[in-house]
Amino acid sequence: MFTPEMLESVKKVEATRPARIGKEPARMSAEEKDLLLKKFHPDYREDGFDTIKVGPNAGQKAPTELVRLLHSNSRLLGHEPDLKKTDYDVDVLVIGGGGAGASAALEANAAGADVMIVTKLRLGDANTMMAEGGIQAADKENDSPVQHYIDAFGGGHFAARPELLRRLVMEAPDAIKWLSDLGVMFDKDETGRMITTHGGGTSRKRMHACKDYSGAEIMRTLRDEVYNRKIPVVEFTSAVELLTDGGGRVAGAVLLNMETGDLLVARAKTVVIATGGAGRLHYQNFPTSNHYGATADGLILGYRVGAPLLYQDTIQYHPTGVAYPSQIYGALVTEKVRSLGAMLVNAEGEAFMHPLETRDVAAAAIIRECTERGLGVVTPLGSGVWLDTPMIEELGGEGTIERRIPAMLRMYMNYDIDMRRVPILVYPTLHYQNGGLEIGGDGFTKAVDNLLVAGETVGGIHGRNRLMGNSLLDIIVFGRGAGRAAAARAKEITVGEPSLEHIRRYARALEDAGIETGGVSPQLLPDYARHERETAV
Ligand code: FUM
Repeated sequence: MFTPEMLESVKKVEATRPARIGKEPARMSAEEKDLLLKKFHPDYREDGFDTIKVGPNAGQKAPTELVRLLHSNSRLLGHEPDLKKTDYDVDVLVIGGGGAGASAALEANAAGADVMIVTKLRLGDANTMMAEGGIQAADKENDSPVQHYIDAFGGGHFAARPELLRRLVMEAPDAIKWLSDLGVMFDKDETGRMITTHGGGTSRKRMHACKDYSGAEIMRTLRDEVYNRKIPVVEFTSAVELLTDGGGRVAGAVLLNMETGDLLVARAKTVVIATGGAGRLHYQNFPTSNHYGATADGLILGYRVGAPLLYQDTIQYHPTGVAYPSQIYGALVTEKVRSLGAMLVNAEGEAFMHPLETRDVAAAAIIRECTERGLGVVTPLGSGVWLDTPMIEELGGEGTIERRIPAMLRMYMNYDIDMRRVPILVYPTLHYQNGGLEIGGDGFTKAVDNLLVAGETVGGIHGRNRLMGNSLLDIIVFGRGAGRAAAARAKEITVGEPSLEHIRRYARALEDAGIETGGVSPQLLPDYARHERETAV
């Protein structure tokens, strides 16, 4: 199970455990956090970023791997399909089959719109499915949306767009009710009240969960509802370019059948981009907790047609990704493990931070232990620190782990690691893009008419760092809102003939800037053949 060196270190963790029970390290001051982030958080590593040279964000920085895609041409340049043929014609086209896309489609359908989902994998193959710990909503007597706002605004370094964050927290209680009414089985106590816990940076217990399968349970429910309502879903088909009508209005998308290679033309009056995150671009060679399709496609589609990005230079590294065993390197170890009482402990058995600092601070502190302080535990793929999981059983009683975080228990048991008895090794993993396409409070992009964005592809809801449980929440709030707004807009408008003029304009801008990557984007799927050796050492 563990190497002899790891076992030596486990003895130190066990030796300090009794003195640590009930005595959490102090929280850091704002100044301490600031210094720590600047020195150790990957967002501050200059060599991880390049400057964008074309488009609305020219002159700003973004992760190198994203800039490469922004600096690539459309895969349709020189291969444009006949736009006179129409394979699909709908009111609302939803691009992406995760929680945001499904929520948008359900609400557009409820509003009477003719809606279709297109997704490059299957409905539900998305980061939503992989979310574990829970969804925030201030729906208890001792809490309020104002309190929720204050927590999230501070946790995001006061950078969240107020109109977006206000909407997130105000609509949160209704989001929980909507999900519950649809059939999501939230954890409840013996009286039937929903159980709520803390997450990093929360001042009240407002995390609603379905054990540690929260995202899977939410996605299961949404997917069932999409199928029940017979909303058309086109699977294994990617949107590779948006269409406009020449008047600056979005007019649909060109789709690529991933199995046959055929190009299809989907006309639409409104389009919702809900394509999720970018973890599979492996910024700075980090492993990721993201699903296979998380390759920033929506950012490219929106940007090429003229929609600006916001906070594209800020990424969330979840502090506790699996550091060992190697087979599940980078997989998510939910923050709920810490909210149930497990402490982060270095190789010497020392608890080096309060376990519920916000994620960016926690990730930076772990990186500091493993680099500057040299107090990480060596693993085959690098190093990590201990998450002292047996503390959960000591604090909550025997059986707590199995009852509250069974997915974690099962994941580690597959490798003969019983987290009830021994601590587990963790290291930050690329988890979430804080930035994305800029929208207004109504969900529409400001630069391209009739184009909406929802879910992880949006920038600005959370500022420069997101609190746990606010992503499952934003996909529901902004997904539903986008569906309703798209359906209402579709009733009011007519759209002209579709065109791909913008891809030729973008190509000219790249040429004028002297950029020639030779690549095309969106990327659609990760390229592991090329990166295998780099990530394995
Ligand atoms: O730690 C987690 O369970 C992740 C939750 C989130 O990203 O919101």
